[in-house]
Amino acid sequence: MNAPPQSSPLLDVHIDGKEYGGRLVLDHVSLHMRRGEIVSLVGPTGCGKSTLLRVLAGLDRSFKGEVILDREPQRGPSARIGVIFQEPRLLPWLSVADNVAFPAGAHHGDEPRVAELLAQVGLPDARALLPKQLSGGMAQRVAIARGLFARPDLLLLDEPFSAVDALTRMRLQDLLLSLVQASHTAALIVTHDLDEALYLSDRVLLMTPTGRSGAGRIAREIIVDTARPRDRRHLTLAQLRGELLEGLGELVSVS
Ligand SMILES: Nc1ncnc2c1ncn2[C@@H]1O[C@H](COP(=O)(O)OP(=O)(O)OP(=O)(O)O)[C@@H](O)[C@H]1O
Ligand SMILES: [Mg+2]
Repeated sequence: MNAPPQSSPLLDVHIDGKEYGGRLVLDHVSLHMRRGEIVSLVGPTGCGKSTLLRVLAGLDRSFKGEVILDREPQRGPSARIGVIFQEPRLLPWLSVADNVAFPAGAHHGDEPRVAELLAQVGLPDARALLPKQLSGGMAQRVAIARGLFARPDLLLLDEPFSAVDALTRMRLQDLLLSLVQASHTAALIVTHDLDEALYLSDRVLLMTPTGRSGAGRIAREIIVDTARPRDRRHLTLAQLRGELLEGLGELVSVS
């Protein structure tokens, strides 16, 4: 039973069930992630992707099952898990620097880590700006910096780039990739963009609604072992995209 430490996953999740108001929304979801691994979660709207992320982030404890990070059961939010949402969710009254350092509390913007992160996300001169002075892409860069501030082992991202234009999106994808690879941070990315999932990830998980309740379950896993840096037009990615579409197509009913 005692597995050697190097073989234990960073994240080990078993959710027997998660209900909202008596309705099952997650049904037997198991998920393992290795340290530094990048995994995407795709699936139709309402199948439970954000719910799963909230459970993993420790923001929702009302479920049956367990979330184990580095062999320790999680009982609530942890500095070892950073979260990045679709919208940057910056505090409008705090400067960019204070927003980045917010995991340490309000007004910690002078910490050297902030300058380091702002340089890494390409905003070295933005520290004194207020969120209202930022473009959407800049604001999401600040949110990425904040997500990495506490040097988490795992970053959870819920449709992080869906509110920006296509070019900004590609730049942010490359930025995220370079940052998590450099820091060996694992990332779980919820996205509706199959190309994004395949470009970024080591594995793509397809969540689908099952049974009468339509509760989410992980139905398919696609391993992407194409070397990085990847060519977005790589033939293998196109083939894997076909597999994902096929998996999604099985869900399309006559409606
Ligand atoms: N706070 C809540 N209270 C009650 N039901 C909820 C709550 N949050 C989500 N749900 C329900 O749980 C199910 C899963 O929602 P969830 O937001 O996890 O889906 P999703 O896969 O993230 O969808 P999308 O792709 O549209 O973001 C949906 O049926 C939703 O209506
Ligand atoms: Mg969602």
